[in-house]
Amino acid sequence: TGYFSYDPGFTCTGSCLSGITFIDGPKGVCLYRGFAVPELVESAEALEVAYLLLVGDKPSTQQYMQFRREIQQHMLVHEKVKAMFSNFTINAHPMAIMVAVIGALSCIFSELDPLNEMHRWLACTRLIAKVPVLSCWAYKTSIGQPMMYPRADLSFAENFLYMMFATPMEEYKVNPVAARAINAFMILHMDHEQNASTSTVRIAGSSQANPYACIAAGVASLWGPAHGGANEAVIKMLEEIGSAENVPTFVNDVKAKKEGVRLMGFGHRVYKNYDPRAKVMKGLVTQVLKELGIDDPLLKVAQELEKVALNDEYFVQRKLYPNVDYYSGIMLRALGIPTSMFTVMFAMSRTVGWVSQWNEMVAEGQMRIGRPRQLYVGPKQRTWRDAKGAN
Ligand code: CMC
Repeated sequence: TGYFSYDPGFTCTGSCLSGITFIDGPKGVCLYRGFAVPELVESAEALEVAYLLLVGDKPSTQQYMQFRREIQQHMLVHEKVKAMFSNFTINAHPMAIMVAVIGALSCIFSELDPLNEMHRWLACTRLIAKVPVLSCWAYKTSIGQPMMYPRADLSFAENFLYMMFATPMEEYKVNPVAARAINAFMILHMDHEQNASTSTVRIAGSSQANPYACIAAGVASLWGPAHGGANEAVIKMLEEIGSAENVPTFVNDVKAKKEGVRLMGFGHRVYKNYDPRAKVMKGLVTQVLKELGIDDPLLKVAQELEKVALNDEYFVQRKLYPNVDYYSGIMLRALGIPTSMFTVMFAMSRTVGWVSQWNEMVAEGQMRIGRPRQLYVGPKQRTWRDAKGAN
């Protein structure tokens, strides 16, 4: 009170205490609970990392088995929520469906008391378990195929691929290269401290609102092209550029700030160096394409664009490097995932971070309601009776 700082876009405002993710922007470092994200991608299962983020430490074998079982049990989704899918128009964007169906989970679980530890655990594990199922059902709805139920014998990544691509007509064998790629994608996107969607979840949760509704708010915030929607926007940009020889013209348009043209998948509020997640993704994309025997012309365009940008004064001066979204879409395309599902996959993974951050906020009593101020620039006080009204 008495102090007021004007910080639009919250560029230098710390909003909470958190022990989950550490980012060193200038050095390009990202740690989950102290573990470097690239190491986790190499050595851990997505669900182990989910446990790490939510609970705070690496699980013992027994803890992991128990957690896996709990998540599997929660993968069943209420049939009433499943029924909702039949009412969306066939061309509805899967992110629009996700906002609706995750919000609808709060109808089924409206009894939740955020201040009760057991209730919080249930909310977090249910969301981690159900959001991937809802994601795949959003896809199946968009192509008019029957929705597949999860299977207890499959890992988290395998289940995702199964629910996306299996049909009741034929046996589906999960490709291990695809499962590894999904596992890596999941880990890379799980948390990233106080970004727009996580801050949205925290602010929504600070009023003690139902956690399912708070996560739906996070999904809405993630959707935009400046945030999670960038992975979809990168592919559209690369398709528009078309081939490597068109890269210089495109870069010139970006530098001239032509009609708001931006190099999508580049730049970050915190990283002023190569995003460590993008480094992993870049290695992964070439490896996955090679292992699957796919030659995607967009990879060449992306590589050329990166090379040109990283050697250009405009990008060097502003410290603009590829972020996690730059190469991820090319990898997802190789796995047969349509562009409209890219941001949904980001949401599915980030759900782990959102629930971990929400749980941390409530558990640690950081529940003072989020309430930023403003600089008022409207009219001075006047009287309605004397006002003439607009022309
Ligand atoms: N292409 C061209 N110029 C850029 C870009 C870009 N991608 N990003 C920033 N700039 C310029 C910007 O025009 C400004 O220039 P000037 O100083 O001449 O006005 C300067 O760099 C600083 O940019 P800013 O907009 O103030 O940076 P910000 O921290 O507000 O925005 C950002 C960060 C990620 C929204 C922005 O870099 C961007 O729009 N990038 C493209 C979209 C994208 O890839 N988003 C994914 C972010 S990472 C994953 C996630 O968060 O979901």
